[in-house]
Amino acid sequence: MDNVIFKRRSIRRFLDKPVEKEKIERILKAGMQAPSAHNNQRWEFIVVDDQAKKDAVSIMSPWSGMVAKAPISIIVLGKHNDESLNNWFAQDLGACVENILLQIVEEGLGGCWMGFYPDMDRVKMLADCFEVPEGIMPFCVIALGYSEDENRFIDRSDMSKVHYNKY
Ligand SMILES: Cc1cc2nc3c(=O)[nH]c(=O)nc-3n(C[C@H](O)[C@H](O)[C@H](O)COP(=O)(O)O)c2cc1C
Repeated sequence: MDNVIFKRRSIRRFLDKPVEKEKIERILKAGMQAPSAHNNQRWEFIVVDDQAKKDAVSIMSPWSGMVAKAPISIIVLGKHNDESLNNWFAQDLGACVENILLQIVEEGLGGCWMGFYPDMDRVKMLADCFEVPEGIMPFCVIALGYSEDENRFIDRSDMSKVHYNKY
């Protein structure tokens, strides 16, 4: 119970300290290591450290304010056609995002997932701001940096949710 899965919490306050490029690269590689339906690997990423862009993202959703003060944010996007969007798109990118969040902890950093897709108003704001081409869907934003707070472990295990052989 001492691995990154159990240490991970959403971190929303960051130190004013830059994140090393090697760490960002390993975090992105972890995302690309995720499983995906038919091994489609449909993910793409925009790394954001420009303050004007971070300020813009911070007001795109009521719950994205932390982006303004996070040293880095990663926008996760997915290539899609209609069929893949309706079926496996969100699951592929969800697996990718969780890998990223766990590698963030492995690197001694903290991060927070902010949902954008399937709120199409928020998705459009991201797409316009970052000049995202047709056929690429912004999925979510992950703020990250050195954490101001310790990750506090919460035991969420509840074995009453587990069923064997039938519900
Ligand atoms: C799909 C999704 C969307 C989320 N969107 C936001 C968000 O917009 N802003 C935010 O501060 N946290 C967001 N979170 C983080 C959750 O609030 C957080 O994971 C949850 O409260 C559990 O806390 P923990 O991550 O510290 O374990 C999101 C999480 C998920 C999985």
